[in-house]
Amino acid sequence: MRIGIPKEIHPNERRVGGTPRTVKRLCEAGFSVWLERGAGELAEHSDAAYAEAGAELMDDVERLWGESDIILKVRPPKLHEELGQHEADMIGEGATLIGFIWPADNGDVLERLGKRRVSTIAMDRVPRITRAQKVDALSAMANAAGYRAVIEAAHQYPRFLAGQTTAAGSIRPAIVLVIGAGVAGLAAIGAARGLGAIVRAFDTRLEVADQVRSLGADFLELRVKEDGAGEGGYAKVMSDAYIEAEMRMFAKQAMEVNVIITTALVPGKEAPKLITAGMVESMREGSVIVDLAAQQGGNCTLTVPDQVVEHYGVRIVGYTDLPSRMAIQTSWLYSSTLVNMIEEMGGREGFTVDTENDIIRGALVTHEGRILWPPPPEPVVEEDLPPQPWDEGKGPEAEPDPAAAAGKTKGRGGLLWLGVAAAAILAVGWGAPDTFLSHLTVFVLACFVGWQVVWNVTPALHTPLISVTNAVSGIIILGGMIHLSGSLASPVTILAAIAVFIAAINISGGFLVTRRMLAMFRKG
Ligand code: NAI
Repeated sequence: MRIGIPKEIHPNERRVGGTPRTVKRLCEAGFSVWLERGAGELAEHSDAAYAEAGAELMDDVERLWGESDIILKVRPPKLHEELGQHEADMIGEGATLIGFIWPADNGDVLERLGKRRVSTIAMDRVPRITRAQKVDALSAMANAAGYRAVIEAAHQYPRFLAGQTTAAGSIRPAIVLVIGAGVAGLAAIGAARGLGAIVRAFDTRLEVADQVRSLGADFLELRVKEDGAGEGGYAKVMSDAYIEAEMRMFAKQAMEVNVIITTALVPGKEAPKLITAGMVESMREGSVIVDLAAQQGGNCTLTVPDQVVEHYGVRIVGYTDLPSRMAIQTSWLYSSTLVNMIEEMGGREGFTVDTENDIIRGALVTHEGRILWPPPPEPVVEEDLPPQPWDEGKGPEAEPDPAAAAGKTKGRGGLLWLGVAAAAILAVGWGAPDTFLSHLTVFVLACFVGWQVVWNVTPALHTPLISVTNAVSGIIILGGMIHLSGSLASPVTILAAIAVFIAAINISGGFLVTRRMLAMFRKG
């Protein structure tokens, strides 16, 4: 099976869909890799390094596109001006294309790929679920963009970011405001704190407040009560009243802060306009705004994509290629997610487009001649439907009163369950031996306490919580040790030894994972 990696033709794109390290991984997995000569040049990877990793260097670009089973790309296919052909028209019939596609903006590309019966995996559509973290190219790039935004701001800012105390006098640290504390925003907070600035941050999703504080920044709070957390961990569009209140807060902040890094976005929507020309004018001369949402229209009304504009002495940076400015590492991070995606699709032996796999289905935008974007709406689960009048035996034509129906249905259902539970407890109490009853009581109490603990811990800390609970549950080790005193050959002793061994791994592993997770939330 052959993988083709063409050179990116988008202006200023320095990244590449494969680095010598990932090409080596692919070759070791049994793929043959064709790489366009010079594809890694702008990411500082020489052709010789690729050849050493096992790639075959190609000059014939049309052949590379047309005869590869899988094409790995960074940017969506576009017109190849030198060849006078669209990249999507050169790809082999029925091949698989993996890369960023941005289907909402590239309808014509989807049509071309659909016509060629290409299976297109859009890395920008990978669902944000735990299992998909290893293929989450967007987060990997946003993390790099957040860091780079701070570096670009520092480059444009004509003062120190960190405070200084010298014999000649003291300099106060700069104040950086980060709007939107998603992946890019959190990376920006970390980088700005690392450079010594005072950092303030704001996000509509209240759940990120703890993460912001744990990075050493102040979380700005709005008096309006509305949580921006939408479905699946994404943000939701806020009400007009909320956006107005938010903008009043930013107007005050603009007069105090020196740098604004803005990353506010709800996926699939145009970026909200949060920084007005008036706010820019109120900022101190020499201040800088870096607008990461420039590609989606910008959070600042004055942003010009890919340019730095100056307004009343304030520089507004609208670069849309921040990850590409660190192409060596971002190419590696990105192409690692591509290789992980190939593995998720079955690797060399079992490569297939499995539409039952939730990661693949989420990212698949064309397949077998069909355009699969936008995805169909999630089916409505019947239990979630509001109770209907005919549930109560009335006809569909009867006057609906959902509130009353819901109340009655819930009330009756609840009573029934209570009755069943009471009967079950009575039956157990009557028939079961005393020892069983005491174990059952401990079990029920443990369930209750466990439920209370997990529900009262913020979701971001669930992984460390579970790993530390794992460690504590190493109570098995005690049981095992009690049984270790018998004869060495007895099955009980052998089983006890295995239990102690596995429980020891559980305890040490649990504490190690917890330590690592908590270290991610600690500052410097
Ligand atoms: P994300 O979805 O993780 O974060 C966006 C955050 O904005 C969310 O936390 C959301 O709650 C918040 N938000 C939404 N509406 C808001 C509002 N009205 N006020 C305050 N916060 C609000 O997205 P991610 O991955 O962090 O990316 C952020 C932005 O950076 C996106 O626009 C993305 O396209 C852009 N980006 C830009 C790059 C560049 O080179 N310029 C490169 C990579 C990403």
